[in-house]
Amino acid sequence: MSLGPGFADYLIPRAKNALAEAQVVVGYQTYIDLVRPWLTTQEVVATGMKAEVKRCQLALDRACAGQKVALVSSGDAGIYGMAGLVLEMCAVQGLKVGPPEAAAAVDLYLEVIPGVPALAAGAALLGAPLMHDFVVISLSDLLTPWETILKRLELAAQGDFVIVLYNPKSKKRDWQLGAVRDLLLRYKTPKTPVGIVSRAMRQGQATTVTTLEDLLSHAVDMQTIVVVGNSQTYTYGAYMITPRGYQNKYRGQVSGSGV
Ligand SMILES: C[S@@+](CC[C@H](N)C(=O)[O-])C[C@H]1O[C@@H](n2cnc3c(N)ncnc32)[C@H](O)[C@@H]1O
Repeated sequence: MSLGPGFADYLIPRAKNALAEAQVVVGYQTYIDLVRPWLTTQEVVATGMKAEVKRCQLALDRACAGQKVALVSSGDAGIYGMAGLVLEMCAVQGLKVGPPEAAAAVDLYLEVIPGVPALAAGAALLGAPLMHDFVVISLSDLLTPWETILKRLELAAQGDFVIVLYNPKSKKRDWQLGAVRDLLLRYKTPKTPVGIVSRAMRQGQATTVTTLEDLLSHAVDMQTIVVVGNSQTYTYGAYMITPRGYQNKYRGQVSGSGV
């Protein structure tokens, strides 16, 4: 189930109910800390970073033993989250799963509860950068070859998409963002607006609007997304706007002249 970005206001009621009804809550320690205020008698099983497979197996074992389990994932569980891995493991292990209302016999009931992903939380803080076609690319090369990431970025830049970068930097991966900036500068102008959002809608939130050429002079870490505009994106005060095209189609109405 999805926790949203962090602040309690952004946890959807269905997720809150699932947490309340769970007998066991399984998750990465940092995310368990985010929902600690909502927990009462639930058993908590917290694991460390990079223990995703262990975490999912633990959740599956407990569910197979008949317990109600909430496997928590930050943002939206279906976006670089735990929903994919847990379903893959069910498929590999031949476990029949289905929603609680499933008519067919299943080994386990499974429900993926959605949440507000970092890209939506970050976009809201930046104004309206995702009003036209966009792509999301993770810079983490732990599970995806770097050449594939670069190819996707290059094609997205050629297509003039707004580009949302996830996992832009970590302690060990500190060079990729510079390489990405250099690649994007081959297709986008140096003044292309760029939004940087760290800890969106959680403790320590910080937002910056800058340009592609200045991207590297700002703080970016593992709890950051970077939003690179398309050729139409512009800034307005502290906001980024990627026009959808209303001004071309309804010029008089948008300008307020009524003409
Ligand atoms: C494994 S992904 C998880 C994504 C998450 N499932 C989602 O829906 O947004 C982790 C990456 O998401 C981004 N991220 C997650 N939460 C964030 C937040 N509150 N603010 C900014 N970036 C965030 C960062 O780029 C981080 O490296």
